Amino acid sequence: MIRRMEAKDKQAVLGLIRATDFFTAAEIDVAEELIDVYLGGPDQKDYDVVVVADERGGPAGYMTWGPTPLTEDAYDLYWMAVAPSEQGKGRGRELVRWLEDEVRRRDGRMIIIETSSQPKYRGTRQFYVGLGYREVARVPDFYRAGDDRVIYAKSFR
Ligand SMILES: CC(C)(COP(=O)(O)OP(=O)(O)OC[C@H]1O[C@@H](n2cnc3c(N)ncnc32)[C@H](O)[C@@H]1OP(=O)(O)O)[C@@H](O)C(=O)NCCC(=O)NCCS
Repeated sequence: MIRRMEAKDKQAVLGLIRATDFFTAAEIDVAEELIDVYLGGPDQKDYDVVVVADERGGPAGYMTWGPTPLTEDAYDLYWMAVAPSEQGKGRGRELVRWLEDEVRRRDGRMIIIETSSQPKYRGTRQFYVGLGYREVARVPDFYRAGDDRVIYAKSFR
């Protein structure tokens, strides 16, 4: 089940982000900033945050997404994570499919996802490719020397 994130979910969502052991402290700060923009601005349209619920209704995973600024009908999947204990159960796929349905509903043109080329993210890249995302660009050494920015896209028109 996918639902909009609520303030009561914040600690659990930050907990699952930390538990993945994928993100640096600075990255977690940025993830929290985006969550705060979303929770603090019910009228803003830049960031939307949804959670996929576990059996008890708590957040098993989450995703931040929004319309890509200054583009016509492109959308960014900014951030997603599934709790380690909930990975491999289709939760991540459920989040991405939900976004795709939402983008189709808005007659969006494409979804863009950016990630890192680090070996640690190999599984993440396989996850996106498996869901039909195509590597469309790569910025060598973007994040740090030897760590490229890998850009995936999927078209909807
Ligand atoms: C990437 C992530 C969101 C995937 O979520 P998940 O719930 O484990 O993925 P799902 O169970 O929905 O898997 C969907 C498909 O992707 C594949 N997949 C998922 N993780 C994979 C991995 N590490 N390696 C290879 N394939 C993988 C699954 O096998 C499945 O394929 P199938 O349809 O052929 O069975 C999750 O592993 C995660 O939070 N990783 C750490 C944080 C991260 O990388 N976030 C993205 C930052 S850019």
